[in-house]
Order: sequence, then C-alpha cells, then structure tokens
Amino acid sequence: MLIKNIKKLIQTQDLKMPIKGTKMQLIPSIDNAWILTEDDKIKSFGEMKDCPTMENEQVIDANGKLVLPTWVDSHTHLVYAAPREEEFVMRLKGKSYQEIAEAGGGILNSAKKLQATSEEELYESAWKRLQEVISMGTGAIEIKSGYGLSLEAELKMLRVIKKLKENSPIPIKATFLGAHAFPAKYKENHQAYIDLIINEMLPQIAKEGLADYIDAFCEKVAFSVKETEQIIKAGAQYGLKAKVHTNQFNCMGGIELCVANNALSVDHLEVINENEIAALENSYTIATLLPTAPFFLSDPYQPARQIIDARIATALASDYNPGSTPSGNMNFVISLACIKLKMTPEEAINAATANGAFALEMQNEVGSIAKGKKANLIITEEIPSMGFMPYSFGRNHIDQVIINGKQFNYEP
Ligand code: NIG
Ligand code: FE
Repeated sequence: MLIKNIKKLIQTQDLKMPIKGTKMQLIPSIDNAWILTEDDKIKSFGEMKDCPTMENEQVIDANGKLVLPTWVDSHTHLVYAAPREEEFVMRLKGKSYQEIAEAGGGILNSAKKLQATSEEELYESAWKRLQEVISMGTGAIEIKSGYGLSLEAELKMLRVIKKLKENSPIPIKATFLGAHAFPAKYKENHQAYIDLIINEMLPQIAKEGLADYIDAFCEKVAFSVKETEQIIKAGAQYGLKAKVHTNQFNCMGGIELCVANNALSVDHLEVINENEIAALENSYTIATLLPTAPFFLSDPYQPARQIIDARIATALASDYNPGSTPSGNMNFVISLACIKLKMTPEEAINAATANGAFALEMQNEVGSIAKGKKANLIITEEIPSMGFMPYSFGRNHIDQVIINGKQFNYEP
C-alpha cells in the first residue's frame, strides 16, 4: 500500500530509549510525504519529491491529512463481564470509589460477575471492545486479569486474553493482576490469599505461558507495600517484570518499592510526592499516567509537568475498565493530557506512541514510523495541524486506521 500526498507524516524516528525531558517536546516529522508498506510492515517513506511510482499497489491519496503511528495503550482491563453504571450513579449521589469498594462493590462486584460468566461470553464481549478501540486508533494493547480473584477465574480471564492474542490483528501483552483486591473470605487473612497467588496461581500461569507481566494494586484499599513486594518478587521468579498500580489515592512507598525492583512501569500517579519523583529520576521505571481515571472519578489529575520536567520517562494509557474508566478512547486520553495535565500535544503524542511501546517492550515493533516496524497507522481527516487533535476534544478526527498494512474495518 502506498499512501501519498500526506500533509505531515508524524513520529518518524527509531528510538533505543524512551523519550525524556525536553525531548518530549519534539516529534520528528516529514511535510508533504509518502509511506509505502509491504505485507504487514513499513517498507519506506520520504518526501513527495522522491515518491515511488506504483502500478499494482493500492494507493491512498492523503491530501490534507496527517499520518501517525497508531496509539499504544499500555494499561487496560479490557476483559470484564459487565459494566458498573449503578456504582457510577452511587458516586454521583456522594459515595466515594473507596467507600463503594469497602462495601463489597467495585472490583469485588466485577469479580462476582466474572466468576459467573463463561469463557466464551467473556471472549465475545472483549473482542467487541478490542474492535472498538482499534477503530479509534489503538494499534497495540496491554490487557490485565484481576477480575477473577480465584485460581479458576484468574486462569479463565488469562485464557480469554490468550485467545484474543491469537486472533487479534494487533499485538497484545497480558498482565497477571491476581493482586487486584482481597476476596471477602480473605479480608481477615491477607497472607492466605497472597499464598494462593504465589503458590497456586503463578506456577500454573507460568506453566501455561499465560502472562507477560505481573501487577498489584498497591493502595490502602488494596495491597500494602509489603504485600506488593511479595507479589512482584514472586513474579520475578518466573521472569515476569512488574507493571504496578500505585499512587492512585495514597503515597505509601509503592513507587520506591517498584524502582528498587526494576519495575517496567508504575501506573496511575494521581498523587506523588517529591521523594517519589526523586526515586523515579534516572530509574529504569516508566511513569504511566492514566488521566481518564481521575476524570471519571473526579480525583486530582496526575502532575505531569513535574514528572516530565524531572526527566522521568512518561507514557499515557487508557486504563479501560468498568469501574474507574469505562472508555478505551486514546484520543480523549490525549486531549485530557493536554487540557488537564498541561502536556503539550507533542508530549502527549510521544507518551501515547513511542513511550507506550517502551512500557510494553514493543519498541521494535510499534510506537513510531520506522522501516521494518508494523504498518499500523492512523490517517486523520483533513485537519489543520497535529495540535488540532487534542484541541478539538470529543471527536477522533480519524479517517482510516491501517493495521498490518490493511484498512481496518470495524465489524462489531
Ligand atoms: O486501574 N485501581 C485499580 N484498578 C482499576 C479499577 C478497577 C475497578 O474499579 O474495577 C484502575 O483504576
Ligand atoms: Fe488499571
């Protein structure tokens, strides 16, 4: 496929390291450009004056349109049994997310529903969500377990993710999040549930090759720092790097723990103090910001300026889940990152493409326009500039999504 007359071809770089600090302001791009794909890969690209003449290829005229790599959504809970709009209404009437969780709602509510749902039904609904997010420009995604909370149901979720991986047109990474919440029967005996995760769930998951990463919800309402430490150390025994939910509500040492254990990412970060920012500086760990979660829960937004200005590698992801973010629309994530987190359009797009790819260790496959990478591309509508995408929030401005070098058609 040849795409020609592109007004601007955006993010034309091949990176060996995540983008940090003032470099986040820059996105290499080519004005008046073309790009050629071969099979599922990017073959070559350049300025229109050097455009190859093609006879048998499919040619798309992108006059007035921008082309950029698809979004990399490095944090989602895409597999779930049912929405939770009743809790949304409870919050509108004054209950907090934590109060609902403590009363057995929240994650435990989702777990109850998931345990009663078949693998086939879970697969069908997740497949639809996957199609929907691809049509909104997502071209690589991470999906977590964590609504099972028993050996059987966690395995069921991870098998659904495995089947999605096998059939999905976009690459998927799977994360085991057995440590999402304590089931009611372990409320007074946390260690017994942690032992179940470590001694029963993890060995079976490793045996079946069902997870790429391990996660825990490190918060006062969920797992303590000491409990999280046990989980990520056990994951490491099976070669699973950590991507950890922390600092959504509380600063309690989760970030320091993750940095000390070389976690791949720390995710959420609505609240973060100076010591925690200092711990992340010069570390291997990526800060993954999820702005649609505080948008939906009316919580404080992530202090992205301090994080980026401290030269911490920063990614953006959707957190798509039925409780705190019932949307997987990365275009809106990018708008919110600009409007509320005060990221520039360049910073937000770098965070949602290149740095998102690093947060999934898929930087050689996706996240930028480079020879040999996957031909997963967004062709925008005719729009004036890149900044128009986040500015004009609530509309996606996507004309076409190209996945594996082919036009993607949304078929729910
Ligand atoms: O990332 N905070 C923990 N996990 C999810 C929400 C889970 C839920 O409410 O179902 C999150 O926000
Ligand atoms: Fe999450």
